[in-house]
Amino acid sequence: MENLNAIFARVREEFPALTQKVHGKKLSYLDSGATTLKPRSVIDRITHFYSYETSNVHRGAHYLGDVATQGFEGARHSVAKFLNASSSDEIIFVRGTTEGVNLVAQTWGHVGLKAGDEILITEMEHHGNIVPWQMLAEQVGAKVVAAGILENGELDLEDFKKKLSSKTKIVAFTASSNVLGTNTDMKLLTRLAHDAGAKVLIDGAQIVSQISVDVQDIDCDFFVFSAHKLFGPFGFGAVFGKKALLEQMPPYQGGGSMIAKVTIEKTTYNDVPFRFEAGTPHVEGAVGLHAAIDFVHRIGFDKIHAYEMDLLKYATEKLLAIPDVKIYGMAANKGPIVSFNIKGAHHSDVGQILDQEGVAVRAGHHCTQPLMARLGVPGTVRASLSVYNNHDDIDALVKAVAKAREMLL
Ligand code: ALA
Repeated sequence: MENLNAIFARVREEFPALTQKVHGKKLSYLDSGATTLKPRSVIDRITHFYSYETSNVHRGAHYLGDVATQGFEGARHSVAKFLNASSSDEIIFVRGTTEGVNLVAQTWGHVGLKAGDEILITEMEHHGNIVPWQMLAEQVGAKVVAAGILENGELDLEDFKKKLSSKTKIVAFTASSNVLGTNTDMKLLTRLAHDAGAKVLIDGAQIVSQISVDVQDIDCDFFVFSAHKLFGPFGFGAVFGKKALLEQMPPYQGGGSMIAKVTIEKTTYNDVPFRFEAGTPHVEGAVGLHAAIDFVHRIGFDKIHAYEMDLLKYATEKLLAIPDVKIYGMAANKGPIVSFNIKGAHHSDVGQILDQEGVAVRAGHHCTQPLMARLGVPGTVRASLSVYNNHDDIDALVKAVAKAREMLL
């Protein structure tokens, strides 16, 4: 196999954002956990759509309408294949992971839960996989329960099993923590939940750019992800749901497209998945996501995973060699994320110094306040890596962290 560094050096050239300087320094973009940069192929696809294919979808009657509809439904087919769903009917387009969780909570949640039931999450969830369940719990009189984590950032499986009971009606967990990097065992957790009679929703936001996901093999009931963390556009994402479940669920929002027939007295609804997609959709989001899926498939997840694990190992070793640096999350199975603090320095100050050096990271609570409380810190500095990063980016990070330590301690 061709040297991975050579392959990914060419991948890097596909990202125009990396040709610029920030604060007069070479940009080392280490914030892919927040959003990935976009390759030229995705940018070009969206530009082409707006230039030559702009038209509304599912309204037929003219050539461009058909082209746009084919692009939109072609994207649904591509997402179904990407997740190995059994059919495109199992893919609902949404604004992103957060809307996907809200959709499931506000539709399935109202047929699947009643007063006294429990929703099991984990302590490392993003607010997007906590708050929608709390809102549902309040509406129906259910309770949100969270399984703990171990010191190394892995899920506490014993606690998970202990908190799973006949009261649990849905288990909602992240496939990959946006802070600790911890990758959870999706298949095992799904089996345990099913054995207890609960449904499963997986927050796939951080996993889809790392490994290939097979929802049939995992056997989860729902899987949600965002396009923008997969080299695609903002404001777009997808929900996978098993068709039999989707068919039992009431609509989400009312409006055009989601209907079969409307009279002033009554409306009957469209088939799934269209029942859940009211109004004119984000068509360029769909075609952009399709291009993003083509981009990752062109590289191949085997190579992406091998390369990112090499970067992660390098970054972890180099950061740990700096005195006073503490890393949060050392799970055996981890995504390419390193969260850390310099003991005695505030994460925001570190983040600002890094920015001045051209190193883009996220510093804060990362939309995971319960996890921060569990770790006993107000926030962390997070370097999240992707296909366009290289050892030079990590060297720039390490140099800037050492400088921050000198300046702040
Ligand atoms: N969920 C995104 C992050 O972790 C925004 O930064």
